[in-house]
Amino acid sequence: MKNIKIKYATTFTIVVLMFANVSAQNKSELLLQSKISGVIKKMALEEKIAMLHGNALFSSGGVKRLNIPELTSDDGPLGVREEIKRFDWNSANWTTDSATFLPNGSAIAATWNPEMANKYGVVLGQEANARKKIVMLSPAFNICRMPLCGRTYEYYSEDPFLNAQLAVQSVKGIQSQHVAACIKHFAANNQEIDRGEINALIDQRALREIYLPAFKAAVQKGSAYTIMSAYNKVNGYWCSENDFLLNQVLKKEWGFKGIVMSDWGGTHHTAEAANNGLDIEMGSSGPYDQWYFAKPLLEAVKAGKVSEKMIDDKVRRILWVMYHTSMSTGHPAGSIATEAHGKAAYDIASESIVLLKNEGNLLPLKTDKIKSIAVIGDNAIRTFASGGYGAGVKARYEVTALAGIKARFGKTADIRFAQGYKANYKASNSDEQNAGYDKPDRVLIADAVALAKTADVAILCIGSNREYESEGHDRKSLELPFGEQALVNAVTAVNTNTIIVIMAGAPYDLNEIKKSCHAIVWSWFNGSEAGNALADMLAGDINPSGRLPFTFPATLHDSPAFALNTYPGKERTTEYKEGILVGYRWYDTKKIDPLYCFGYGLSYTRFTYSGISTDRKTYKTGDKIDVMFKVKNDGKIQGKETVQLYVSKVKSSVSRPEKELKAFKKVLIAPTKTATIRISINVNDLAYFSEKQNKWIVEPGDYKILAASSSKDIRQVAEIKVMR
Ligand code: BGC
Repeated sequence: MKNIKIKYATTFTIVVLMFANVSAQNKSELLLQSKISGVIKKMALEEKIAMLHGNALFSSGGVKRLNIPELTSDDGPLGVREEIKRFDWNSANWTTDSATFLPNGSAIAATWNPEMANKYGVVLGQEANARKKIVMLSPAFNICRMPLCGRTYEYYSEDPFLNAQLAVQSVKGIQSQHVAACIKHFAANNQEIDRGEINALIDQRALREIYLPAFKAAVQKGSAYTIMSAYNKVNGYWCSENDFLLNQVLKKEWGFKGIVMSDWGGTHHTAEAANNGLDIEMGSSGPYDQWYFAKPLLEAVKAGKVSEKMIDDKVRRILWVMYHTSMSTGHPAGSIATEAHGKAAYDIASESIVLLKNEGNLLPLKTDKIKSIAVIGDNAIRTFASGGYGAGVKARYEVTALAGIKARFGKTADIRFAQGYKANYKASNSDEQNAGYDKPDRVLIADAVALAKTADVAILCIGSNREYESEGHDRKSLELPFGEQALVNAVTAVNTNTIIVIMAGAPYDLNEIKKSCHAIVWSWFNGSEAGNALADMLAGDINPSGRLPFTFPATLHDSPAFALNTYPGKERTTEYKEGILVGYRWYDTKKIDPLYCFGYGLSYTRFTYSGISTDRKTYKTGDKIDVMFKVKNDGKIQGKETVQLYVSKVKSSVSRPEKELKAFKKVLIAPTKTATIRISINVNDLAYFSEKQNKWIVEPGDYKILAASSSKDIRQVAEIKVMR
């Protein structure tokens, strides 16, 4: 009896002590975990396994008996996808699923503004709730390694730091609405060709420094609830059964508590996937009970190949996500395609437009002097919410360029339209069926020229579209499609006031266009409000502040995957031979001049930088470097400058990129005013990953801190030392 009492007393003391030492948040986490254990105890093995695989296109099983709902999900980056049928990809023909079309991933990245990523996430979360979706399959932020990748438009950037800042805020935005973000595709889905088979051989350093940081940040700083394993293999193992990526790094090292779900049809085995970290198998078509994580998993457990403890861990993760989302207290009802959401789409679009060239200050347009505008090009009337194989949105509305220009300039100018080219390309067609898509249409060009001759200004809307840039395939070249170059040449020859607006989500060859004396504007697949944001930017109501989130190479062969002949790979293997030299890290270090560099973009005003200083001259590991400098708006209108801080190691003992982005900030500065910029950089963020020691190392010695307006436009330099 005495013994029992002592035992009880001790246990009680331990529990009290346990709770005494934990924060309120940890306390509720402990309580939640014990509640989840209670639920799991009530479940039969078959019920548990039903939760681990898809039971329809966009859901996995629940347990009715215990009031556990299905885990519903939906794509995706551009907005909440329209409702499709439960078992096939056809529209469910709902009338309540029209949504806000949000700017594409690279457009969000071009804002260089984490607040915009957050705004995006909040809208997506609210619309997901209105549609009763627990998981949003978004954001997607694989590194833009290769300019032709068909999904570059969905992804953010070539730079891991910019990627991470945006990913964290997108996730936080979505999850602020009690909806789970599903960050994807983990990891290295950097090309679409052979994506289902390709084995990406990537060294540890490149993985740690380039391909994983945004995922790590989204997990640790954004607390992402779910993650999607990629289709491809990394270093010999499918991402859906990659012990290193899923168990060692994601779950153990980063402490990920949520769900790993496979990409659709991206599971290849039962026990290997279950034991190496996959939690839910998702896919497209049934019979669902035959999937790897259905009957075969049940059999694997019975045969002792997968432990029931492992199954419990997966169920625990799913319940944990549900208790934080659909089963959370105070779960918001959500709303869809509201005016506020349209305003958010406008705000994001207005910060994403990149002014690449403004010869003769053609822009902003002098509205009082312009009496006629020729709007030319298929993209002026095209919508981008859907198309190709990628997830699309049934947009409640989408303002085209022509509609936006008419609304903004129509009262004072005569606006006429000519198509200029035909967009003859379908993602679903064979190469033979698409043959000739790059040929100019001489009749349409002649019409466009005739119109351009009569107008004060020509606005040429070209670029690509959602068929040409699509999931499932990569582009074959950097060239502008549909004979657009011929159209540009013909129109610019007859109208000296031509503004070339390019709508696309990835780099293109603009060598010819750059040489012409005109204005060039990059305006992405910019969401429901694209046309209004574009027109307001052309009119000067918006001062452009977008910056390129990736390099535009001068030629394809300058880009690392092509220079090193590693794309698309041989025998379904591609070696990332460039290692850490991805994007501007490659061009800068190899002294290759790009067409447009990372971080580039003009404004209608000018900014001058001065007076850089740091709070100290020497630092040690763990310190913060406070960097200060001034930026003056030298023009006549207010504008936003994106200040970029790159760091360069002086004389490194290991090979390092010439410079790396370590901080940035977008600041609004009134005309003639000077802003004092204060940004800090963690000394720990100067580390490189040592493969030999398998850890991050901050190398002592001298570093340069470069305050820049783009990766090639360094305005101020400070020097600091990191002590041993
Ligand atoms: C894509 C994922 C998407 C899934 C469901 C896959 O083909 O790679 O990004 O979430 O389909 O639509």
